[in-house]
Amino acid sequence: MCLLPLLLLTFLLSPRAEAGEIINGKECKPHSRPYMAHLEIVTFQGYLATCGGFLIRRDFVLTAAHCAGRSITVTLGAHNITKKEDTWQKYKVAQQFCHPKYVTLQNDIMLLKLKKKAKLTLAVGVLPLPSQFNFIPPGTMCRVAGWGRTGIDEPGSDTLQEVKLRLMDPQNCSYFPHFNHDLQLCVGNPKETKSAFKGDSGGPILCAGVAQGIVSYGSHDAKPPAVFTRISHYRPWINQVLEEN
Ligand SMILES: *[C@@H]1O[C@H](CO)[C@@H](O)[C@H](O)[C@H]1NC(C)=O
Ligand SMILES: *[C@@H]1O[C@H](CO)[C@@H](O)[C@H](O)[C@H]1NC(C)=O
Repeated sequence: MCLLPLLLLTFLLSPRAEAGEIINGKECKPHSRPYMAHLEIVTFQGYLATCGGFLIRRDFVLTAAHCAGRSITVTLGAHNITKKEDTWQKYKVAQQFCHPKYVTLQNDIMLLKLKKKAKLTLAVGVLPLPSQFNFIPPGTMCRVAGWGRTGIDEPGSDTLQEVKLRLMDPQNCSYFPHFNHDLQLCVGNPKETKSAFKGDSGGPILCAGVAQGIVSYGSHDAKPPAVFTRISHYRPWINQVLEEN
């Protein structure tokens, strides 16, 4: 059972007040990101919300813990999420594994066990994770993908968008009181307008083809930088859940 975040509004999942998509990104080539998962969530309060996530094993999706809800349905193999295609595979989530130390703004990571194993196709594939010892340094250029939709009434982008963002020094995120460089990534140059924003929650940031982070939260005005969960730190927990399930 996952805890309900108290400060839901500060998360990228929150109902759209301003822009609702990856800002200043570009549309991905259809199905060029076969690990991307689109999550439809019935929240604990009974609202609909969406998040991103990514396939790490045929029956497991990695996402943010604040995307937890009463029930979750995962769509794989999608590009335009409003236009059903033969490449789509939809799975109900059988079990949500929130990080045991998840509290609002910290340890924002969750594993979703699918009811059935996904079929690997050209449009559906798994993404490699970094090892526990792969501590990605500031300065690296990485990519974030997402649909940026936030709910049924808030159409973001129909199609998967992508943006290139730089990993910043921890000092650049020091105005987030809970920022912790060991557990999180500070992402996006404050001097640029590119950012990952609401509805992109739970999606991956890829650096040299490896998923190094998960979109977690940012500031209300969508100005970069934003905070991502640092995946390498959580490898022991991820491995344990995967082995036991
Ligand atoms: C997505 O699909 C819908 C329904 O076919 C279409 O109306 C819309 O224009 C598409 N969006 C994009 C960005 O291509
Ligand atoms: C990030 O933080 C460093 C160290 O405080 C500072 O020198 C730099 O100007 C900041 N970068 C930006 C783009 O604000």
